[in-house]
Amino acid sequence: MKKILSVVGARPNFIKIAPVAKAFKKYRKEAKHILCHTGQHFDKRMSEIFFDELQMPKPDHHLGVGGGSHAEQTARIMLKLEQVLADEQPDLVIVPGDVNSTLAASLVASKMGIPIAHVEAGLRSFDKTMPEEINRIVTDVVSDFLFVTEHSGMHNLRDEGVEDDKIFFVGNTMIDTLESNYDAVESCPITKEMGLTQGKYIVATFHRPSNVDDRENLSALMAMLVRLAKERTLVFPVHPRTLKNIESFGLSDTIPKTLKLTEPMGYIPFLSLMRYAELVITDSGGIQEETTYMGVQCITVRKNTERPVTIDVGTNHLVGISMEKVEKAAMDILGGVTKPGRIPELWDGKAAKRIAQIIMEHKK
Ligand code: UD1
Ligand code: UDP
Repeated sequence: MKKILSVVGARPNFIKIAPVAKAFKKYRKEAKHILCHTGQHFDKRMSEIFFDELQMPKPDHHLGVGGGSHAEQTARIMLKLEQVLADEQPDLVIVPGDVNSTLAASLVASKMGIPIAHVEAGLRSFDKTMPEEINRIVTDVVSDFLFVTEHSGMHNLRDEGVEDDKIFFVGNTMIDTLESNYDAVESCPITKEMGLTQGKYIVATFHRPSNVDDRENLSALMAMLVRLAKERTLVFPVHPRTLKNIESFGLSDTIPKTLKLTEPMGYIPFLSLMRYAELVITDSGGIQEETTYMGVQCITVRKNTERPVTIDVGTNHLVGISMEKVEKAAMDILGGVTKPGRIPELWDGKAAKRIAQIIMEHKK
């Protein structure tokens, strides 16, 4: 019996691992899949809601680490996870994405000599000021199975000297989740409930430290959204990091009611909101991919993206961080200058099945 332990901690991790946990059910006679939640994200709307909506098994272990500086958070996860791995003695640890939980788990497992599978390997922004870039690079260096979502990931890993027999182009498990929930997404009544006209509103999300941790940058961003809200209804589900900063920078009073700020939303309602939007403006990683899959126009407010397929093939527009440029790009799209997109190769809802099969058929 193979024992496989997946480590998740932050919102995008849950969405990426749900289909992987499901795919291992097919092998229940030969493999036991265990889930460990680090507790990096802990609010109901950032964590539990996804386990319920996506019918994920409850975590077998919960480390309850919460927030903190990078060193504090990573170190707390490492200390607690080391004990879990010592008790469980898994044959393989699976880590999705690029968050601090991914990094911490990779470091602990590699030092304990446990093989590691990285789901979403090889993505590179080539910007080491982003904590995620450090997390990705370190995780890939110590991983034994590198499961890649897009061609750029294969090239990046090869350029870094990773052996070909460790790299597997399998597709995108975040898209597996979307594909398997698409009917629910399309029939969700959220737009009606919020009084929105389909195809005539904008959705925004922001949580990157470079956009929201600096008072000036966040003020300029909010002012730009307020201007766009004069053109179209604009819905902005606010990430806890962003909410804390809006409050601590004293910006709450500057936001007019025309900007619809909401709490973080559940998966199905949020995806449905994006599905029927005219435009999504974001700095999220996963949302660049989901909008590409759904063919919805997306503006990414960043200088770079580790997901170039969403630009080259999909509907993503990378416009940098000048708010004038973002506003101009948004106005162009609202004026009908849109980009046709295609669904990238292997984003077909079967990535997790491929991952489980590769792991189960591997000799180790
Ligand atoms: C983390 C990831 C980022 C990912 C994002 C997804 C790292 C370095 N960053 O960023 O790559 O894109 O998750 O959303 O791992 N907080 C709450 N409640 C929660 C979660 C967070 O109040 O449920 C607060 C924390 O206490 C902290 C802040 O939000 O003050 C940031 O949380 P943290 O997990 O450190 O980073 P994120 O910005 O969420
Ligand atoms: N998401 C959600 N509700 C929200 C905002 C985002 O369900 O209010 C989903 C989003 O559709 C995607 C994932 O959360 O599946 C992305 O998480 P986030 O943007 O926090 O992280 P990133 O992808 O940038 O690491």
